[in-house]
Amino acid sequence: MGVAAVSGVLVRTAELRQVRDFTRQVRAAPAALAIQGEAGAGKSTLWRAGIEAAAAAGHRVLRSEPSASETDLAFAALSDLLAEVLPLVEARIPGPQREALEVALLLRPAGEEPPAARAIGLAMLTALRGCLFQHPVLVAIDDVQWLDEASREVLTFALRRVTDGPLSLLLAARTEAAADPLTVGAPPPPRDWHELLTALPATAEVIDLAPLDLWQVQNLLPPDVTATRARLVARQSRGNPFWALQLSASLDADDSQVPPLARTLTDRLASSLSAEAAAALAAVAAAGRTGLPEALAVLDHLADPAAAVDEAVLAGVVVETRDRLSAAHPLIGAAAVQSLPPGRRAQLYRRLAGAGQLAWLSRLEIRRGNLSAALSWLTERNQPGRAVDLIWATWRFWWLHGHAGELARHVDAILAHAGGMPPHQRALALSGAGFTRLAGGDQTTARRLFKQSLPLYRQAGDRLGLGLAAAALGHLLAAADTVAVARDLLEQTLSQLRDMAGGQFTEPQRVHYLLDVALASNFLGQIQLDQGDHRRAAELFTDGLAAAHSAADRFTILVSLYDLALSRQAGGDLDDAASLLRQGLSLAAEAGDEPSLAYYLEALADLAARQDHPERAAALLAAAGTVLEAKGSGWLHAYVPRAPHGDSAVARLRARATGAAFGQAWAYGRSLTGASAVRYALQEAPSRPDLPASASR
Ligand SMILES: Nc1ncnc2c1ncn2[C@@H]1O[C@H](COP(=O)(O)OP(=O)(O)OP(=O)(O)O)[C@@H](O)[C@H]1O
Ligand SMILES: [Mg+2]
Repeated sequence: MGVAAVSGVLVRTAELRQVRDFTRQVRAAPAALAIQGEAGAGKSTLWRAGIEAAAAAGHRVLRSEPSASETDLAFAALSDLLAEVLPLVEARIPGPQREALEVALLLRPAGEEPPAARAIGLAMLTALRGCLFQHPVLVAIDDVQWLDEASREVLTFALRRVTDGPLSLLLAARTEAAADPLTVGAPPPPRDWHELLTALPATAEVIDLAPLDLWQVQNLLPPDVTATRARLVARQSRGNPFWALQLSASLDADDSQVPPLARTLTDRLASSLSAEAAAALAAVAAAGRTGLPEALAVLDHLADPAAAVDEAVLAGVVVETRDRLSAAHPLIGAAAVQSLPPGRRAQLYRRLAGAGQLAWLSRLEIRRGNLSAALSWLTERNQPGRAVDLIWATWRFWWLHGHAGELARHVDAILAHAGGMPPHQRALALSGAGFTRLAGGDQTTARRLFKQSLPLYRQAGDRLGLGLAAAALGHLLAAADTVAVARDLLEQTLSQLRDMAGGQFTEPQRVHYLLDVALASNFLGQIQLDQGDHRRAAELFTDGLAAAHSAADRFTILVSLYDLALSRQAGGDLDDAASLLRQGLSLAAEAGDEPSLAYYLEALADLAARQDHPERAAALLAAAGTVLEAKGSGWLHAYVPRAPHGDSAVARLRARATGAAFGQAWAYGRSLTGASAVRYALQEAPSRPDLPASASR
């Protein structure tokens, strides 16, 4: 039986009537109703009843149920609200506004400038008016205290300007509860959402949920609960329906003692779930709402992550709504996360940080101007050391977002001031410059810079910095055909890293260490692969992948997966190679890392050609080209072996596919966007026709 069992009978009949009357009404001018109460008071229950009534009356419902972890995700709620109606009203929204809105909703890539808030607000206004033109509209937001700021501003802007028409706004908001065991100590829920109410001309109706009385508690509980026990439950739960149900479900028939509130839920979770399912629940709860692939990525330390998620869903503690997973109830989620021991909780957040790197990077993009100004300022004020620190904290952002050139200019400016820096900072500046040259393809300069950094790292006693710079130098030496020297350097680096394995690390040092191990293993593996030892190479890549996973570093995982796939391919295991490449492709797609996605498409094209699917290969290769042209070469190219699929590969394919088929496949590939190319690439090749029907028409 699920932990979140519901008896089916609804109490609070007066409030139910008020909510239903409100949402069913076809009004002449916009109006709002807010349901307020402590955690578990029954807000969502009323809110859902309101939505059902509106839908049954033929109203259009725009809904969003943000979670605590989405508060920082710009436009998350807006994208929920518009998910279903956008296709219907899109055509009414003028071009520039629609583009701004689509960028905000991540439906199209951002240009140089972030979209103007006003344009998004106007687009939202047009969308609302478009809906109102056809039906009465209910905008319904549960847990509105977690509405992200960007959505709130856009919605407020639009609501202020809808002065008439059948528009209802239904909000449910959590208010502070001093005595609630799961939210006590947390900061009080924010109240900025009140802005939405004041945006409308009429004064909002408000329902403040009072505790249930004894009679209501009795009605809430199963009929076989005795009056004495119901009284006990009513008192212990303080009239809170969530706790009343949890308490009553945890009572054994012959147990007259009601357990203390806070333990109830965690005990029930512990006794009804396996450790794996509990881990799945905790991961989903800590992530707020998450897609299945993301949840699986966070859980990939389990033997069978999918089974763990399934069990949590079957137990009723995790629910799936519109391709998102969430805890069945916010309080169940809170209990699951809180019942983890501190070490495990820290580990979970680390894993989530790995999965969430994308969101963090997108937020940085908005601040790129400030970041750039800060770097120039620090350098010019003769504080290059601090500029170096800032760069090391943010380098992925510059690379992944295609600003490697801008970063290189900053690094050059810093190097010009390097003379006065202490050895350690000089080492960091030199190797930082080395990485930007590596990304830019200037291997000779990169090699020189890394070489100069090594003695400085040694002098400063920074063995982790030394490991990273030495690994990069090894990679560059191999590319420069001094393979024996490269191999010695990498072997030596790896063995020094292994000596450090048991050491005491702070958290950032641990991640640094793992990244050193991953890069050194991968680079050495690439040399072995070049020399034909695919077995040894695969071992090294497997080590690299494991380290990248422990560091929860998506970018290094991408490098390692790619390398491992190539070694499997070299060993003749094409299916395994394909499956690894598809994994990487999905990961790159989730990360929004289109250049890497293009490299994976190229590798899959190569594989399809080997598996005798020349048309499929042509389509994938063409798609990779389209993506790369749009996005530039990205950072993966600096790390993975040069892709072997240039013009000669195209010529080979052309020779193998018949002229017309090749042309069609090529044209189809060119027409694909990054996302549709991923979808095409993830289809299993052999069992299906080489191209979807649309391409052969
Ligand atoms: N009027 C009601 N009749 C019957 N059961 C109810 C009623 N209100 C709430 N419940 C039950 O109590 C539990 C908590 O209710 P609900 O999820 O609506 O609370 P909430 O106020 O939204 O909580 P939170 O602030 O944590 O989101 C649910 O299991 C729900 O089924
Ligand atoms: Mg709720």
